[in-house]
Amino acid sequence: MDQAVPLRGQDSRHPDGQYSTPAKVFHWVTVPLMVLALLSGLVIRFIAEEPKMAFYALHESTGLIILAVSAARLAWRLTSRAPVLPDHIPPRLRAAANTVHHVLYAALIIQPVLGFLTTNAYGFPLQGRTAFLGFIDLPKFMEAREGLAVPLHWAHSLIGWSLPFLLAAHISGAVYHHAIRRDGTLLRML
Ligand code: HEM
Ligand code: HEM
Repeated sequence: MDQAVPLRGQDSRHPDGQYSTPAKVFHWVTVPLMVLALLSGLVIRFIAEEPKMAFYALHESTGLIILAVSAARLAWRLTSRAPVLPDHIPPRLRAAANTVHHVLYAALIIQPVLGFLTTNAYGFPLQGRTAFLGFIDLPKFMEAREGLAVPLHWAHSLIGWSLPFLLAAHISGAVYHHAIRRDGTLLRML
């Protein structure tokens, strides 16, 4: 193909081949939130004691907003179909995209839940200087349990450090479709 053109729809619900407006809004609202959650999470360990609490509040609030958006997004996704990919996308690429999308959806839910449980298990709920959005105290979820906090923190870190690689694969896929295959896949989400 000479230039990227929108994919023709292959199902009656998506005659233009595009994702629905709510699906696009959910997708693009998540992008800056995810950038903020990742950057703030990755730098917390290097921040000095004084502004650290503000970083926790920022990181944890952004993460909980991602959780709320993703829960609504997943509910939407499970009740309304995505546009069907056209036949000329090879099975290998479909399978790769599907796998990455499934893992991303799982991470969008599991990661903030792990973070929330971690802070609570350390006896460090979202209250006071680390309140939600800086001023909304959330109820304490459990008493401090260091033995639980350590593996939860470990799992949260593992997913946190894996996510940039997963997202790099996802974004490279989008760029590959758009700039190299020029098959219009990116336009489905714009
Ligand atoms: C999608 C949402 C989230 C992402 C992508 C994310 C990502 C990260 C990353 C990359 C780190 C750094 C890990 C490390 O350096 O070992 C981190 C640390 C952390 N996150 Fe999250 N996180 C999210 C949500 C949350 C939520 C909702 C909470 C709590 C309510 C939370 C609490 C924490 C805590 C307590 C740490 C440890 C910081 C430290 O080392 O002192 N995270 N997160
Ligand atoms: C610049 C950044 C990004 C670009 C260019 C991009 C591009 C795309 C495109 C083109 C699709 C549609 C694929 C298709 O037609 O089958 C898509 C789907 C998807 N993206 Fe992204 N994306 C970006 C960032 C993100 C981020 C940060 C996340 C979440 C953490 C994410 C999660 C997803 C998921 C879960 C889907 C599957 C949607 C569904 O089928 O319900 N994307 N993305």
